[in-house]
Amino acid sequence: MWRPACPEVPWDAMNKKTVRDVDVKGKTVLLRVDFNVPFEKGTTRISDDGRIRAGLPTIDYLRQQGAKVIVCSHLGRPRGKPVEELRMRPVAERLGELLGTPVAYVRECVGPEVVRHARQLEPGQVLVLENPRFYPEEEQNAPSFAKELASLAQVYVNDAFAAAHRAHASTEGVAHYLPAVAGLLMEKEVDVLGRVLEKPKRPLVAVLGGAKVSDKIAVLDHLLELVDAMLVGGGMAATFLVAQGRSVGSSLVEPERVALTAELARRARERGVELLLPRDVVVAERLEPGTRHCTVPVDGAIEDGWAIADIGPQTADQFAARIAQAGTVVWNGPLGVFEVPPFDQGTLAIARAMATCKGTTVVGGGSTAEAVESMGMADKMTHVSTGGGASLEFLEGKVLPGVAALLDK
Ligand code: 3PG
Repeated sequence: MWRPACPEVPWDAMNKKTVRDVDVKGKTVLLRVDFNVPFEKGTTRISDDGRIRAGLPTIDYLRQQGAKVIVCSHLGRPRGKPVEELRMRPVAERLGELLGTPVAYVRECVGPEVVRHARQLEPGQVLVLENPRFYPEEEQNAPSFAKELASLAQVYVNDAFAAAHRAHASTEGVAHYLPAVAGLLMEKEVDVLGRVLEKPKRPLVAVLGGAKVSDKIAVLDHLLELVDAMLVGGGMAATFLVAQGRSVGSSLVEPERVALTAELARRARERGVELLLPRDVVVAERLEPGTRHCTVPVDGAIEDGWAIADIGPQTADQFAARIAQAGTVVWNGPLGVFEVPPFDQGTLAIARAMATCKGTTVVGGGSTAEAVESMGMADKMTHVSTGGGASLEFLEGKVLPGVAALLDK
């Protein structure tokens, strides 16, 4: 049941100050970004520099304003000690190529060597610090470490939306010691995702997939209160189907979540939210290439030895039709095992439907963003979030510590 469209209300992106609200001319800015990029296995070659590119507008802006820019990002999970493969040098080099200007790099994050490099910076120049996660104090959010980082600069800009769900020294702690504002990417992410939750053009449709219900409980719970329709696919649909009394063969089911999914379905009915589950599915003997597979309706029992690998074509058509009518669509989680063709067809159908939808289309980060990018459809979406865990927590309605710590407008 669709609700009538909400009147358009002017939307204040977020009541946090941004780089545009502070004077950075001639000042040293500590810029936290999330350049946690993937590398080709066993090499220092970056396989996807999307996160670095996404950070360029803020760096360009700061340089144009005459700021001296100290860039800080984590890379991987070195757990408090230096790990050679997780050094920031290749990232600094790639950043320099993209900016078209030399970028300095220092193999530490704090200390006299870093201070020396920072003092040498001229307006418009960029220095990349070493991975802060080489220091245990980073993840502990130790005030002494945050203070030392802060002492390098006069202004703190946080553009690391993808790390904003972490209360670490460089994402949260440092904001207590410097005037702290959002970068342009942070502003955009919070604006677009915030609008989905608070001022969506209706109908608001959520598409949720992924392997397990337990990973998505909080987002299912939160979005159920906001959406007009919820379309559920992916491995987690099996648990919903079991709650409806269906038999799902050898699909992964979370027995301890069956009651919860039944409860979600009940709440959806009560609220008039259209909860769409797959009506047909692709089942396979194994979730690997070249395996035997076929499409079956969910009301015929799926035999033991066969597991759901994707939504079926009827479901894909039905989901696509809902998406076509939407004012806003938010999508988190692949609909099938998209890494293993032909089980990518459901995910591909959703990506195509989103690409042609006239409404606002927002893709949560992580594997959904990966799927959309690998299908070459990222630029057809209104927004593809750079944050995996961060966008999920945002859609769960949680306050992100990296955002909360910034100055209010
Ligand atoms: C991400 O890749 O999702 C972010 O960079 C956060 O990384 P983390 O999960 O290691 O904190």
